[in-house]
Amino acid sequence: MKKLMELMAEEISSAFEKAGYDPSYGRVTVSNRPDLCEYQCNGAMAAAKAYKKAPFMIADDVVAHLGDSRIFSMAEVVKPGFINLKVSGEFLSSYLREMSGDEKLSVTLAENPKTIIIDYGGPNVAKPLHVGHLRSAIIGESLKRIGRFVGHKVIGDVHLGDWGLQMGLIITELKHRQPDLVYFDDSFTGEYPEEAPFTISELEEIYPCASGKSKEDEAYRNEALEATHLLQEGKRGYMALWNHIMNVSVTDLKRNYDKLNVSFDLWKKESDAQPYIPDMVQEMKEKGFAYEDQGALVVDVKEEGDTKEIPPCMLLKSDGASLYTTTDLATIVERMKLYHPDEILYVVDKRQELHFIQVFRCARKTGLVPEETRLSFLGFGTMNGKDGKPFKTREGGVMRLETLIKDINDEMFTKIVENRSVRDKDARETAEIVGLAAIKYGDLSNQATKDYVFDVDRFTSFEGNTGPYILYTIVRIKSILNRYEEEGGNLKEGEILSPVSDIEKNLMMQLTGFGFTVESAFDEKAPHKICAYIYDVSNAFNSFYHETKILSEEDTERKHSYIQLLQLTKRVLETSIDLLGFSAPDRM
Ligand code: ARG
Repeated sequence: MKKLMELMAEEISSAFEKAGYDPSYGRVTVSNRPDLCEYQCNGAMAAAKAYKKAPFMIADDVVAHLGDSRIFSMAEVVKPGFINLKVSGEFLSSYLREMSGDEKLSVTLAENPKTIIIDYGGPNVAKPLHVGHLRSAIIGESLKRIGRFVGHKVIGDVHLGDWGLQMGLIITELKHRQPDLVYFDDSFTGEYPEEAPFTISELEEIYPCASGKSKEDEAYRNEALEATHLLQEGKRGYMALWNHIMNVSVTDLKRNYDKLNVSFDLWKKESDAQPYIPDMVQEMKEKGFAYEDQGALVVDVKEEGDTKEIPPCMLLKSDGASLYTTTDLATIVERMKLYHPDEILYVVDKRQELHFIQVFRCARKTGLVPEETRLSFLGFGTMNGKDGKPFKTREGGVMRLETLIKDINDEMFTKIVENRSVRDKDARETAEIVGLAAIKYGDLSNQATKDYVFDVDRFTSFEGNTGPYILYTIVRIKSILNRYEEEGGNLKEGEILSPVSDIEKNLMMQLTGFGFTVESAFDEKAPHKICAYIYDVSNAFNSFYHETKILSEEDTERKHSYIQLLQLTKRVLETSIDLLGFSAPDRM
């Protein structure tokens, strides 16, 4: 379905052409003087130079050809040569009727659907999820949903960190605590137990304990490094422990991501890329890209025109161990082989930007990806506390994600029971739904690349630019529609008519923006555009609601029209929040 703005531009362009001017001047924008008009065209100003003619004369010529326009109810020239426009209510309502019948609500599906892998989440096995993982999960999930909605094949991959020193640390600590475990008996050749020798809470205590010790005790640290190395070489007992750690940890991660309404198509991990490393490294050597530098194997990735120094990309350390870069490169090899993506998008903390510059350049230079495959990095900013420093617990420690979610839900619960008298259980469930909206909207309404302040009071407020406010609006519409049905109304009856007030017209105009908003949110990887849009729609709806008697409207056709408009508003808002990764309760 064409966008309203496109239809307007087409109409104006053809008027330019009929008047003897180049149609490309017929661009239309939303008015920056809403007191005078709804839309405007500044093309005559631009054309004046080319045609050496006063802009208002050109504008006059163009407007003369808009007299019988079915799109505009007003086309007026104002000096020095702007064309002020108002859309016809008839046309607007016919547009919304068509939109109501369109499953995609006017979004045009991508002409050439692409296969896009989104690498997001990126938790590390055996370490609890903390707030640092929140943004990647929230932004990545939203982009995945938006990409699918506009017609692409999007594959979400969690890319677990499962191969680093943290594994060696856990193994070492276990060995100190329970040296008699069969996993440490080198003479053991039987089957290892199916049951893990630890629970998730033990695991979560073991890791920080081991990590703390390794910072103070060099011998301990070397032991952990050695254990990591042995694991990576496939030592039987350690592999069995690694499997236990994985199972226990992944179950817990899935539970946590479920709570966030985040899901991955692939649960691939760093270790899955290991088999690809030897051949990849060999080839890079043979092709002359990789060379030895002080014992390490590196590939130069600096380019002409670099304004800052881009150090070589390191493939192997002097002891032959692989690195984060190596794993990411080998993961690209694996992804190309298994999924042939047109694009791989990484949603990772922007402090890792240099790493990705190196990886992308190395992958391109050495031919791991063909020219037409895009590698993109969406580096997000830090989530800060009110003090402007990275978000911490009151005691200054790393905030666990579960704690953060619980705090928000408790705050929402208090607000909800203040608002109404409901059974506790209902209010708890509602608080979880609204709490998630508070967190996700609070995050996504900021441009992803910027740092932002996580402000619990503001995010959980029912007023202002917040998730709860958007949900409140949806719940309000739901309750009107319910009452309408209870009073015997039929939601299918009637159709959207021309607006009778400016406030209604404004809501209608806002609704037409859905398609454009979603498409540009995808093109620019900018979910915050959807947030800004639904905030506008919600404001427009609430003004309409306060000014209009909906259920007590006596003119039946008018009332039906309102009900249709409400249903479309609800669909637009609900579809939008689904793209952002949250949902609305029935009551609040
Ligand atoms: N596990 C990593 C971390 O916690 C993030 C992984 C991001 N994805 C990637 N392909 N490097 O920093």
